[in-house]
Parts: sequence; C-alpha cells; structure tokens
Amino acid sequence: MTKPFHRTIGIVGGGQLGKMLIEAAHGWNVPFAVLDPAADAPASFYTEKFIQGSLTDKKKILELAEISDILTFEIEHIDVQTLIELKNNGKKVIPDPDILKIIQDKGLQKMHYIDNELPTSKFLLAENARNAIDLLSDFTGEKIVVKSRKGGYDGKGVAICNRKDLISGSEAFPFDEPCVLEEFIKEAIELSVIVARDHHGNVMTFPVAEMVFDPAINLVDYLFAPAKVNDKAANEAIRISMEAISAMDGVGLFAVELFLDGNDELYINEIAPRPHNSGHHTIEAAYCSQYEQLLRILMGLPLGSGKLITPAVMVNIIGPDDVNGTYDLEGIEAFLNEEGAYLHMYNKSQTKPGRKMGHFTVIGKTVDDAIEKAQKLRKVIRIVPST
Ligand SMILES: Nc1ncnc2c1ncn2[C@@H]1O[C@H](COP(=O)(O)OP(=O)(O)OP(=O)(O)O)[C@@H](O)[C@H]1O
Ligand SMILES: [Mg+2]
Repeated sequence: MTKPFHRTIGIVGGGQLGKMLIEAAHGWNVPFAVLDPAADAPASFYTEKFIQGSLTDKKKILELAEISDILTFEIEHIDVQTLIELKNNGKKVIPDPDILKIIQDKGLQKMHYIDNELPTSKFLLAENARNAIDLLSDFTGEKIVVKSRKGGYDGKGVAICNRKDLISGSEAFPFDEPCVLEEFIKEAIELSVIVARDHHGNVMTFPVAEMVFDPAINLVDYLFAPAKVNDKAANEAIRISMEAISAMDGVGLFAVELFLDGNDELYINEIAPRPHNSGHHTIEAAYCSQYEQLLRILMGLPLGSGKLITPAVMVNIIGPDDVNGTYDLEGIEAFLNEEGAYLHMYNKSQTKPGRKMGHFTVIGKTVDDAIEKAQKLRKVIRIVPST
C-alpha cells in the first residue's frame, strides 16, 4: 500500500458528516481520529481514536492535532484560531482555516462575494438591533432577511421578517447583535453546487442539486439531483460556484448554496466548507461521492468523477414535534421492500423536534420517478417514542 493510506485524518466534530466521511474510507482502511463533545457522537462508533471535548477547547484541538497527520472539520462552529496557529506551525489543515474564519461570519462571507464580483443579494451590516432598524429604510421589499453574523446553523440565526413591521416596532427585531440585513429573494428556487478543489488547483463540481425547504422549520425537506432548471442556469450556477471557491484559493470540498429567481438571476446565499446535506445522495447516485472526494483531497489523491449514475432524491429524517428522548424507527420492513431506497441513520441516541436523525436516498429512472417513490416512502418510515 502507498503511504497516504497510513496517515491519520483528524476530524474536528463527530456528527453525521464525520460518520459518513469515515464510512467512505472503510474500503481503504484509512485511520481516523475524532473530537466531539458527546461521548456517543455519531462518528465516535467508527474510530478507535476518539477524544471527548468541546470543539472550542484549544487543548482538545491540540490533543487531536497531536495524533493526526491531517486535520479537517465537519462543522463551522469551532475554535478557528487554534487551527490557524496549527497551520502556521506547519500542520496540514484542509480546508484552510483562514477560509473557515471568513465563512464563520456571514458578514465577511457577503463581502467576499462583493470583492470578487460574485452575485449575491443586496445587504447591509448592522451592529445591533437599533442600528439595524435605522438601516431598514435602505431596502424596498415587503420582507427582509435578518441573519446573525455568527453562530447560526440549520436555519437558526436566520429570521424572515416584515420590513415595515420591524420599522414600526410591531414586530420585535429578532437579534440584538451584529447581523446581516438581506434583501429577500422572492419565489427563489434553492440550488446547491458541491465544488471540490485539490491542492494543484484542479476543480470539479457535482451536478446541481435542487433543495425543497420546509418553511415551518427552515430546514431542507427533500432535495433532488439533477436540478430541474434549464441548462443555462445550471451551467451558470456551476461557473459561479467554481469561481467563488477558486477566488478563496479553497482546497477541500465546499457546498455553494444559491438562489435562482423568476428572472433567471442567480445569487450566492452561502458557502459551507465541508460535506453537505445536499450531497448525501452522491453516496449511491454518483461515481464518486462527496465524502470520497474529500477523502481523496485530504490524502493528496486525484479527484474522482462526480457524474451522476442515476437521478436521485434525498429526504431528511427529522425528529418529529411530539417525540423527545429515546425513540424507535417504525416502518423499516416496508421501506426495505422498495427497490433503490437506501436508509442512513446517524446513530443519535436521543431525538428532539427538528433534529436531523437520518436520511434516505431514492434512485429512479427520472427525477420525477424518484420523487414519487420518495414521497411514498416518507410516510412509511417514522420516528416514534421507544417502548
Ligand atoms: N436572501 C434570502 N432570500 C430568500 N430566502 C432566504 C434568504 N436568505 C435565507 N433564506 C432562506 O433561509 C434559509 C436559511 O438561510 P441560510 O442558508 O443563510 O442559513 P443557515 O442557517 O446557515 O442555513 P443551513 O440550513 O444551510 O445551515 C435559506 O435556505 C432560505 O430558505
Ligand atoms: Mg443555508
């Protein structure tokens, strides 16, 4: 075996993305080390070297670095400063933590798009609620999007508000902290392009995925690939996304989320510097999955083909509103009777309303076939209180 297979990959964060990254490496017998605050984190069951500790604890990150040859992360909210120090001392950290520093702050991210002439919705930065209210008159739409600059995830930290009600005070301002005020893109189709770029500057993307949101919880309800947009929009989304990552000199795997409005205009929403929900389907549906692609980059191996072998749909399995704590999964037998349906449970011991507990992917001859099958299967599989 060649040398890259013996290097330990350390992951900051042991959630489902870490778990699926390790799963992708099983055929290659690559050793991993994982840091996570929860002793029973999803990825903890897949690695012998597990460190329990906070992702913002410098000592714990240094401990992880000590036993790892290459470091990566599967979540944005971590101690980026320590990773920067490690990088400056010669440690291989992929993606570059200086990029993570930009991404951690939605305001800096927006400025990156402006500085590189990449399309994004109109925005202003505010210091606090009072300052933000003063700035609202610079916008025109009925709705306004307010985003906390730091710390948001899965729609938390994002509020879509009525602009006039915020000005009049009949709606309370959602955050009293530094935030981004953003023009609301009406009737937007939400797209995602996963970009992989290696240390030679070789770059590839997976076909554009289209996300359908559940407005009640602001989480992806289901997504499918390839997206049902016209070729011009898909090619432009790919071009803009590659440009955004190359402009950062990004090495690693990145998900670029975009909006496509009714006039066929594209806007970058945000970038995640890691495997993404919108790429889970690539495990079964692409020649090389997003996880294997990241692995290849971490190990200095050539990029794989992200072409889809088949259209696919991915459905998140979300903790229902009325179940808290331990749970059972109902309907597995009926689910498994379906051809081309693949279940991934994340090994989380407790469910909570809105928590991502797992996902399933359905492949089909066409996207519509797969959507139809997925809509049927989502009624079949259910999280219920454990008995
Ligand atoms: N400018 C906008 N116009 C219209 N809708 C928006 C806008 N910004 C955000 N949204 C809606 O809010 C959702 C969450 O926003 P965003 O992706 O910025 O937050 P997040 O919490 O970082 O997301 P994630 O769910 O990817 O972790 C978007 O997917 C979209 O549905
Ligand atoms: Mg998002």
